[in-house]
Amino acid sequence: MYLRKAESRRTVGAPAKLNLYLEVLGRRDDGYHELETLMVPLRLRDSLSFEPISPTKAGRPGPIHVHVRSAFPLEPSAAQQDVPPAGEQNLVVQALQLLRREGDCLDGARVELVKRIPLAAGLGGGSSDAAAALSLANRAWGLNWDRERLAALAAEVGSDVPFFLARGPAVCRGRGEQVEPLARLFPLHVVIVKPPGGLRTSSVYHALDQSTPAAGHSGHTDRLAGLLQALRRGTWSVLGRWMSNRLQVAAATLSPWVKQAQAAFSQLDFVGHQLAGSGSAYFGVCRHAQHARRLATILTARQLGLVYVTRSC
Ligand code: C5P
Repeated sequence: MYLRKAESRRTVGAPAKLNLYLEVLGRRDDGYHELETLMVPLRLRDSLSFEPISPTKAGRPGPIHVHVRSAFPLEPSAAQQDVPPAGEQNLVVQALQLLRREGDCLDGARVELVKRIPLAAGLGGGSSDAAAALSLANRAWGLNWDRERLAALAAEVGSDVPFFLARGPAVCRGRGEQVEPLARLFPLHVVIVKPPGGLRTSSVYHALDQSTPAAGHSGHTDRLAGLLQALRRGTWSVLGRWMSNRLQVAAATLSPWVKQAQAAFSQLDFVGHQLAGSGSAYFGVCRHAQHARRLATILTARQLGLVYVTRSC
C-alpha cells in the first residue's frame, strides 16, 4: 500500500501521567512488584508524528527511524538519564520492532518525537510515546489488532504502556499492566517540579526492597476507595489525606532532592503533594488553575528545578 506523504503522516499527543496513589503489595517471582495504583493522564504531552515507510523493492523490511528533539532546556552537563535516548535504547523503537515482528509485517516508519515530558521523572513519558507509536503503527501498517491484543504486546514493552493505550484515568494492578478504566473524574490542576537529576525506576524499586519487608501493606483498599470518592465528588479538602506513594521513602534514600521538594511543597497550601511515580519529579494538587499558577510562581523563585503547571484530562 503506497500512501502519499501528506495522507500518511499522522501526529498525536502522548500525555504524561501522575500516580495519585501507588501501593506496592509485594514482590513477585519475576522480579517485578505487585502494584495497585491510580493514574491520571495529563495535558502535559510529547508530540509524536508517524509516517509509514514501505518495504524495499527487494522485499526487505523498511527502516525504522526515530528522530527525537527536546522541547525543554538541557544543560550541557545534563545527566545521562535526562537526555532523550536514541536508537534501540528508545522505547518507541523497541515497541515498533516488537509489533513488526509479532505482526509479521515488513513496513517501516519515520517517527518525529518532540519531548516536552521530562525524562527519568516518573511521569511516564517514554511509555506514553511507545503507546502512541503502537497505536499509530497498528493502523498505518494495516494490522488493525484489537485493543486487547495490542495491550498484551504493550505490556511486553513496559508495565505502564497499556495504561497509555487506554487513554484515561485508571486503576492499574499486577505490575501495572492490568488496567481498569475509570469513568470521568474531576480535573486536577497540578504543579510539577523536576530537579536536574533523574531517577531510574529499577533503582527505586531496589531501594524499596532494601528498606521494607516483602509482605504487603494493610489499609490500601480504604485509601483507594477514599481517593476515588474524593475525585468523583471533587472534594479537594480530603484529597491529600488519601494520596500516597509507597516509592517516595525509597526514592528519598537515593536523592536528597526528594526531601527538599517535600519540605518546599509542605510550606505551601497544596491540597496534597507527593513524588511522581518513581521520581524524581514531585507534584502538588491545587484547588483551581489560578491557585496552581500562584504556587508555581513561588516554586519557580526557589529554583528547585523546572516547574510545570498542567491539569489532568
Ligand atoms: O516495566 P518497566 O520496564 O517500566 O519497569 C522498569 C523497572 O521497574 C523493572 O525492570 C523493575 O525493576 C521495576 N518495576 C518493578 N515492578 C513493577 C514495575 C516496574 O519492580 N510493577
